Amino acid sequence: MTTNRTFTMIKPDAVADGNSGAILKLIEEAGFRIVALKKTLLTKERAGEFYAVHAERPFYNDLCNYMSSGPIYAAILEKENAVADFRTLIGATNPAQAAEGTIRKLFAKSIEANAVHGSDSDENAALEGSFYFSKTEQF
Ligand code: TYD
Repeated sequence: MTTNRTFTMIKPDAVADGNSGAILKLIEEAGFRIVALKKTLLTKERAGEFYAVHAERPFYNDLCNYMSSGPIYAAILEKENAVADFRTLIGATNPAQAAEGTIRKLFAKSIEANAVHGSDSDENAALEGSFYFSKTEQF
């Protein structure tokens, strides 16, 4: 089953650089409807919870430090085929390998500070969305 929803974060580097508005504009121009949106600051513990699936990876500690280093935007997005289309819009994890015109190619600094998150499955999109938003915050 597809939910037509995905979840994104605009990461600390992109927020600090003043790129949040430009990124949200690209997201809306690509046909995504913003269902929920908030600016927030993760603690290292909460970043660790969000990325728990990567707990055994060598980059996990640095990733948690980075994701709690400054404010982020969290958002739920809606569009037909949302998960796959959003992964296409943001480009490869490593901006050096991201296609021209993708959000990571345009705004990411490194594989860690890669500007945006995008869910990798409908199941994770629902879990990640509910990590930040209650049902009554989703319109
Ligand atoms: P991953 O789920 O593999 O990528 P994506 O965000 O494209 O789904 O990794 C999650 C995040 O972990 C990634 O956005 C940035 C960070 N990361 C690193 O810092 N170093 C790495 O080598 C990898 C693979 C990821």
